[in-house]
Amino acid sequence: MKNNSAVSGFHKLSTADRLSLLRDLLNLSEEEIKHISSSGAISLDKVDRLIENVIGVAEIPLGVATYFLINGKDYLIPMAIEEASVVAACSNGAKVARLSGGFTGYSTNPIMIGQIQILDLDSPEDAVIRIMRNRDIILRTANEKSKTLRDNGAGAKDLECRIIGSENRMLIVHLLVDVMDAMGANIVNTMCEHISPMLQEITGGRINLRILSNLSIHRRSYASAVFKKEAIGGENGVDRILEAYRFAELDMYRAATHNKGIMNGVDAVLLATMNDWRAVEAGAHAFASIGGYHSLTKYSMNSNGDLVGSIELPLAVGILGGSTSVSPKATVAKKILDVKSAGEFGYVLAAVGLAQNFSAIRALANEGIQKGHMKLHARNIAISAGSPDSLIESVVEEMVKSGDISPSNAKRILASMEKSNK
Ligand code: MEV
Repeated sequence: MKNNSAVSGFHKLSTADRLSLLRDLLNLSEEEIKHISSSGAISLDKVDRLIENVIGVAEIPLGVATYFLINGKDYLIPMAIEEASVVAACSNGAKVARLSGGFTGYSTNPIMIGQIQILDLDSPEDAVIRIMRNRDIILRTANEKSKTLRDNGAGAKDLECRIIGSENRMLIVHLLVDVMDAMGANIVNTMCEHISPMLQEITGGRINLRILSNLSIHRRSYASAVFKKEAIGGENGVDRILEAYRFAELDMYRAATHNKGIMNGVDAVLLATMNDWRAVEAGAHAFASIGGYHSLTKYSMNSNGDLVGSIELPLAVGILGGSTSVSPKATVAKKILDVKSAGEFGYVLAAVGLAQNFSAIRALANEGIQKGHMKLHARNIAISAGSPDSLIESVVEEMVKSGDISPSNAKRILASMEKSNK
């Protein structure tokens, strides 16, 4: 039974019944059931309406990064992440940037792209002309789907047509939609579906997919900061960071890790505020691959010899709608973050990504990251080995000194400490 995952009607059960079924199937203890089903600040009933087949709420540590000054405004940054050092590194990057006035940031208009795939066209070129000659009526039709956007001068703004493929060429229509402060996925998808019959009629082709693109190239955010040379090991420190950056520029293997570090920060804020971090991840890496996969940040030295860092990335993020407002924790996280528009949210995220990246390459170009990581790792092991609060630091120190950071060594050290304390 244990290996049979074809549980018919699982979705129809209450959360309590799903849990008792799992208990029976997997022989889970009462304590295990209690752990998996606890839901914190949100009721399990509400969670059950957010996704399907709910049995509980996953827990991820929530921290706050400090020292952020962006366009002259102070920010505390909520971050949800399981990885040690990320919040500390992010705060450190912001602390150094703060010495020279913090970050400056900017976001473009919130224009999302919806894609409509049209096939079986005798002449895609002719179809493009027909579509563009009907541009105004197509946009008007799309805008029937949102009074709010329309009334605010936003909504569907333009069309772009792209012919792709060599054999069996297809026509891809991009519907460009100003979604204001929403992430925009729902309205863009709705508009694409709504105008499809009209596009079919105009072109005589066959419509297949109608879905937004996560490469939201028109909706970008920027941040930059000066990192004073005195704070980062003088000219030599600046040179090393520039060498690290050049490594990412020249090498895709390194660029992937470099960009992962950036997204450590960006994703953590998105998760804390319950935004679609996968959409942003997808967009960021697709954007980084334009013209050959490269770093999302750039660094140079200014005439003072200080390091100047900047970042540019597509950020399809909203402050309205979606699941953000369902979670009481995400609501408080949003209050902590205190951003008033999607554009502001975008450049704050960009600044977080830059701070994160600066700190990572600074550490890598100097002492390396393992020293700090291993200490945190040792602390986790000391705690799970059962060290009482009073002995955690000493067990960590001994473990690090011995070079053997393992549960068995933690237990051995702990036992000998407890023995000599008796
Ligand atoms: C680890 O999660 C992130 C880093 O590897 C990023 C980087 O190498 O730049 C430290």
